[in-house]
Amino acid sequence: MRTYASAPGKAILLGEHSVVYRGPAIVLAINLRAHVWAEERRDNRIQIEAPNLGVAGYFEGGRYRPLRGGAERWRSLNPIRVVAEKAMRRVGIRGGFNIRVESEIPPAVGLGSSAAISVATAASVLLLSGEEGSREEICEIAYEGERIVHGTPSGIDNHISTYGGALRYERARGFERFGVEELPLIIGDSGRRRSTGALVARVRRIRERYPDIIEAIIEAIARLSEEGYGALRRGDLKRVGELMNMDHGLLSALGVSTPELDRMVNAARTAGALGAKLTGAGGGGCIVALVEEARRRRVSEAVRRAGGRALRAPLSEVGVEMEVVEP
Ligand code: PMV
Repeated sequence: MRTYASAPGKAILLGEHSVVYRGPAIVLAINLRAHVWAEERRDNRIQIEAPNLGVAGYFEGGRYRPLRGGAERWRSLNPIRVVAEKAMRRVGIRGGFNIRVESEIPPAVGLGSSAAISVATAASVLLLSGEEGSREEICEIAYEGERIVHGTPSGIDNHISTYGGALRYERARGFERFGVEELPLIIGDSGRRRSTGALVARVRRIRERYPDIIEAIIEAIARLSEEGYGALRRGDLKRVGELMNMDHGLLSALGVSTPELDRMVNAARTAGALGAKLTGAGGGGCIVALVEEARRRRVSEAVRRAGGRALRAPLSEVGVEMEVVEP
């Protein structure tokens, strides 16, 4: 049997970094997806190809053998292997399998690429049993992949990728999905990879040096994120945009913006975006701009001139999807 599944990436609209301490964060599934095909093999090999990442190889008897890329690249395939094996065990399938991963989501820039790959991998492998896994099961198995990539992440990325749509997350209250009308977003990718863990640590250090001041900033981000949640539910995009602008200023004060991100944010605003800010951990990665249809071209062009890659990324209501390709 051969199966296929796909899952969306994400952008954090408001509340990153504050969510580590307090929250809430407002997270949206975006219309860029990871695609995964799975098929059983007659031997015990777990063979994984990810042409976008320039890597292919197989795991057998506890060892990794590269087919494309060096032996050290087992690291980028290991989360996929762990997720796939866990899914296989869950449905009681033994033996090896092939996994092919193709992703539209640029990696390591805060758009949830690893989670989308884990979610689509879990879904496609569970379906090899002939039955679809539940979303809860897919989300939980995908979290194992996220733990390998990120340590102990909040679980925002695998949740949003599994369920799609919009999500409010706060440590104390957990996840809440909510409905949003249309949300016209443009992502500007600086192309600079970064590590979420290093940036979270940077904020922790500055918080230790200036506890009162940084607490006040973290609290202000939490408030504007809450306010933005209300505005989003009412469809008040102008207010959401203003709050995004404030959020960017506060994230800069935490020390996680960069000149490239600031350039793209300013260019998007000047070209008429309702709001623009860095998205995710910062230190590189992407900005997100809220842009009415009439300004879309102008803003995309401005982001490109400011040195970024502009991606149109409307909200995706569709979370993980799966199908049997060959019975
Ligand atoms: O991994 P990213 O770029 O989506 O950033 C995650 C958001 C942070 O608030 C910075 C970290 C976290 O774990 O919530």
